[in-house]
Amino acid sequence: MRFPPSFLDEIRDRVPISSVIGARVSWDRRKTNAARGDYWACCPFHGEKSPSFHCEDKKGRYHCFGCGVSGDHFKFLTELDGMGFPEAVEKIAELAGVPMPARDEAAERREKQRASLTDVMEMATVFFQERLQSSDGAKARAYLRERGLASATQQAFRLGYAPDSRNALKEFLAGKGVEKAQMEACGLTVFEDVPVSYDRFRDRIMFPIEDSRGKVIAFGGRALSPEISAKYLNSPDTELFHKGNVLYNFARARKGMGKDGTVIAVEGYMDVIALAQAGFDNAVAPLGTALTENQLELLWRMTGEPVLCFDGDQAGFRAAWRAADMVLPAVQAGRTARFALLPEGKDPDDLVKADGPEAFRAVLSEARPLSDLLWMRETSGGVFDTPERRAELEKTLRELTSRIKDESVRYHYAQDMRERVLAFFGAQRSRQQPRHGERDRNFSKGQGGQWGRGGAGPAAGRLAVSDSLARSAMVKRAGGVMPLRETAIVAALVNHPALIDENFDHVETLDLSHPDLRLLHSALIDAVAHGVTDDSSAIIARIGEAGLADAWQRAMALVRRARLWPVMEEAAIEDARDAFAQALHLHRSASTLHKELKVAETALATDPTDENYRHLVEIQAQFHDVQATEALIEGFGISSGRVDRA
Ligand code: UTP
Ligand code: MN
Repeated sequence: MRFPPSFLDEIRDRVPISSVIGARVSWDRRKTNAARGDYWACCPFHGEKSPSFHCEDKKGRYHCFGCGVSGDHFKFLTELDGMGFPEAVEKIAELAGVPMPARDEAAERREKQRASLTDVMEMATVFFQERLQSSDGAKARAYLRERGLASATQQAFRLGYAPDSRNALKEFLAGKGVEKAQMEACGLTVFEDVPVSYDRFRDRIMFPIEDSRGKVIAFGGRALSPEISAKYLNSPDTELFHKGNVLYNFARARKGMGKDGTVIAVEGYMDVIALAQAGFDNAVAPLGTALTENQLELLWRMTGEPVLCFDGDQAGFRAAWRAADMVLPAVQAGRTARFALLPEGKDPDDLVKADGPEAFRAVLSEARPLSDLLWMRETSGGVFDTPERRAELEKTLRELTSRIKDESVRYHYAQDMRERVLAFFGAQRSRQQPRHGERDRNFSKGQGGQWGRGGAGPAAGRLAVSDSLARSAMVKRAGGVMPLRETAIVAALVNHPALIDENFDHVETLDLSHPDLRLLHSALIDAVAHGVTDDSSAIIARIGEAGLADAWQRAMALVRRARLWPVMEEAAIEDARDAFAQALHLHRSASTLHKELKVAETALATDPTDENYRHLVEIQAQFHDVQATEALIEGFGISSGRVDRA
């Protein structure tokens, strides 16, 4: 323990050092001048015949001119008598008649308290585990079985069940002598603003959250029924638990990393557990928030290149971009991250369950380095057909690169980005140059590119980005994403069938790009043909009969995730009507332009004249404008299936 320096000074001042040393030596009468507090003796630290050991009360120090030792009261006792420092302090305090300080009580109490809080958490863990095996837990056991969790897995993760009671845990802990205040400090009871505290977790599957040494410091609780509004309820931050500093399954994953040293960060508890059951012992998850910097540090404590795993939908992309922005400034040699993207609509749990561990292994093997991810983000969907726009891209990339704190990595990033830009614009420019004509002289600058050269085709430069992106494995996986705008249109029609009649001509000829949405659309038309249009549940039933329940679910999940409330069933018809009209308008302009774009591209391919080129550029610009308009309208910015920035 630490003593306050003021206390040490005080007792040192009160006790003459000569009285401490005098107990162990005989003063030399001739040399000593007691009145002045000046003492001499033969040195107790080394053998000698004549006194060269000196101490002075005024200074409170000793010094031997023979062997060179020196020090104060405490040093004398520790060096000569071999006392521990606290013991020496205690002895001097006693001589001084000063009581020992309340030995930094607060800190010690906190220490003790912490120990006892982890004891309480351990008791609660055991309680929940036992409840899961009891008759109370039948429903929970059935749930876990249905989710495919083997009982060995349940035990390894110490899963439990919090019974549907306001005081089961409270009473259990009280019976073990745990005080109310401790339960509260553990976050196990709700006590703020209520007359009587009660169990926080009720009727939930309990996931103990452990610290890096494997001690339970918090819980996540999953509701059993989908009606409960909070699917997962987590412990509040407590003395033991700060959610931004903890990764679920950290301790086990560190052991389970295996030889290749990979660590995978996924989104949810269930993902971690399902992966463990599928043989991936090295997965961790944040606790209901996006990955924090502290959690990244924890990952880096395990491995230099963790794989961060994201959902293969637009929200997942955005989460990946956000994570990339967080990782970037902190990268160093051997400290970075890779990014993996799951197939659309599946989390790791779903994936390994449906397609086995190989499917997840494939996802991991396609993980992209940070630099790829950033490059894709900055270039995808972009238009770089003018020097200004290219300069802007370069500026953005420079700005990004400059955020890297490590000098050497920053240098290499800058170089990497420059090379990408050169390769990219080189390819673009070579395609954009006209075959003949005076423009050649102005633009070629020795690049000598030609239209259609080397079979590169005339798909003008600005499309090259999205093309190459579309070919990339990462985006291909997300390619199955239902475009939000189209999904919103279908959702509005099904949820508000009145809109079908109101817009019948448009509805009938609606041209949708996504196969599932097309099927939903046919089911809708089919329903209309059978006169089923007054009631959305009848239409949904028809959708189900057509075997499209799953597609419908996914469509609704997407709409919900994008918070497009106006097209949901609960929305007022007026709101639904507005949202529908807007989505339909954008859809029609975009799809018309898209068709014109195709025609213009073909024209240019077969007849590469300047005029055809200008025409294509013109259409592209309009197309881009429509996209930009969409981006301005909340939610629809992610509509066209292109990769969007957060
Ligand atoms: P998900 O909604 O993706 O859940 O939330 P999941 O992991 O797929 O869970 P299952 O498969 O439905 O059981 C991912 C994580 O977000 C946090 C939890 O940490 C969860 O593991 N979360 C989610 C919450 O904290 N609260 C919620 O209401 C929902
Ligand atoms: Mn899940």
